[in-house]
Amino acid sequence: MCGIIGYVGPRVAREVVVAGLRRMEYRGYDSAGVAVIDDGKIELRKKAGKIGNLEAELQRDPLSDTEIGIGHTRWATHGGPTDENAHPHISANGKVAVIHNGIIENFAALREELETVGVPFQSGTDTEVVAQLLGREVEAGADLAAAMRTICKLLEGAFTLVAIDVTQPDRLVAARRDSPLVVGVGTDENFVASDVAAFIEFTRSAIELGQDQVVDVNRELITITDFAGNPATGKHYQVTWDLSAAEKAGYDWFMRKEIFEQPRAVADTLLGRHGEDGALKLDALHIPESHLRTVDKIIVVACGTAYYAGLVAKYAIEHWTRIAVEVEIASEFRYRDPIITGRTLVVTISQSGETADTLMAIRHAREQGARIVAICNTNGSTIPRESDAVIYTHAGPEIGVASTKGFITQVTACYLLGLYLAQIRNTMFGDEIAQVMNSLTAAPPLIQKVLDTLEPIKDLARTLLGKPSFLFLGRHVGFPIALEGALKLKEIAYVHAEGFAAGELKHGPIALVDEGVPVFVIVPPRSREQLHSKVVSNIQEVRARGAVTVVLAEDGDDEVVPYADFLFRLPKVPTILQPLVSVVPLQYFACELATLLGYDVDQPRNLAKSVTVE
Ligand code: G6P
Repeated sequence: MCGIIGYVGPRVAREVVVAGLRRMEYRGYDSAGVAVIDDGKIELRKKAGKIGNLEAELQRDPLSDTEIGIGHTRWATHGGPTDENAHPHISANGKVAVIHNGIIENFAALREELETVGVPFQSGTDTEVVAQLLGREVEAGADLAAAMRTICKLLEGAFTLVAIDVTQPDRLVAARRDSPLVVGVGTDENFVASDVAAFIEFTRSAIELGQDQVVDVNRELITITDFAGNPATGKHYQVTWDLSAAEKAGYDWFMRKEIFEQPRAVADTLLGRHGEDGALKLDALHIPESHLRTVDKIIVVACGTAYYAGLVAKYAIEHWTRIAVEVEIASEFRYRDPIITGRTLVVTISQSGETADTLMAIRHAREQGARIVAICNTNGSTIPRESDAVIYTHAGPEIGVASTKGFITQVTACYLLGLYLAQIRNTMFGDEIAQVMNSLTAAPPLIQKVLDTLEPIKDLARTLLGKPSFLFLGRHVGFPIALEGALKLKEIAYVHAEGFAAGELKHGPIALVDEGVPVFVIVPPRSREQLHSKVVSNIQEVRARGAVTVVLAEDGDDEVVPYADFLFRLPKVPTILQPLVSVVPLQYFACELATLLGYDVDQPRNLAKSVTVE
């Protein structure tokens, strides 16, 4: 949700900034802009639409070669996605340019005060208030970092801000509250950005800023303070992946590349989880075992795809640990006054670790005394930092807005957590845990097998192209996969799609079934006889009403053959682990359909990958 970058150093700043914006375009693509300082003046180019529009503008009307620059790619909140509302914003006195990620909640009151004293505004954004406030401070003689600290105290809401000042043209000053900011540490050059992807081409050395901090950056020095001006420190770390991970590697879409990375991503998530004694270990789970033994309820909070991973977790964790698990959409959680005690364990799932709804939910849970375990893919992001413990998913950077490897590794991490709790609470025998772990370890080659047999899905997408509505059915862990299959189609192919628990069909949704409506059905393994036979009946029910049935069933399941218009074979896995193989063809189908429809699969309309506003 908005990508921001600042650069100071010997390279051509506008080139570094635009390249960084390209790598962060997944964060928002309503507009983009760049500002540099040349000869005591701010030069600015900004354009509505994707970064390509900005690049065309820069071709037409180039910016000077300078050693300092800032850039922004926007997901619009306040003010429509127009050229005027694109960032950077410049103060009326022309002294300061600012980029912003987040929302200034009290912007209307601040703007009114400024307008009362005659400050003219150019845009409908909340951000421009910051530019004007900083411009006035600097005009009055304040140093840019001091000015930033002063105005941050006036702001309510979530923000990452980066500013440059024509009178101090060798510095970038940035601030953060509840929104991400990392510093890239180079040699004789430095960077600030929302995400390390923006500068990974130049340095893998990074500093993660803490809450309510201001950083003052020039070519050599990085000075961090809190909002009161006291010296502060950030957390230094090395990024473990490189530029190639942030590029498409010959695929047409990041999403397709990420679908194909899933075997490796799952293997990496599982790596190193066995201790020398063979027992399962979760290194970063810094909650004492004695406390985990007292937990009497687990609440999983998450949004979007991560929420569906949480629904899978419920089946696994309850079955293995006998602890009651509730799964809650993060944005609903704190508003319904949930029942939380010191014995409640909150498990939060977030690929980005930045989702504002999820962050606010865990803060609420903490205030009520719960311990928090984060399942997260982004090292050092806000959600794991504010949690008691973290299980990192090691999927590598996920850039396609529609989550794929993010999801499958979240599900894997949930399995690990469930097994770990079962181990320390003695709800499973060691050999039972080892058996599930063996099946999990065997999953990556089976996911690969699914990937190797996806070709017919391409034909299926061509056959079903133009259908206005799709239904997805599943039972047990197949139900969240049905929801996820439908979400993928909505997100990137913009077609109506709904996922249902197959048993609910007869209680309403079956009325939607009509001649030619495609119905995808995830069939549980035959080893779960009752479950299996119920789903086979559901396929017959929809087929009898004219549906086109797309059936996902395990190898050797012949019972479904007569009722499947299209049959996709899944490798045999235990029922609870089936999501690891069944989700893959659904992801691929959505990707194919959206490609055939001519849509931008990686940057679907109206969406952003990490949503840092509530
Ligand atoms: C956004 C994305 C979804 C994602 C959700 C949760 O809405 O568009 O694809 O599932 O956020 O993201 P998180 O980073 O918390 O997993």
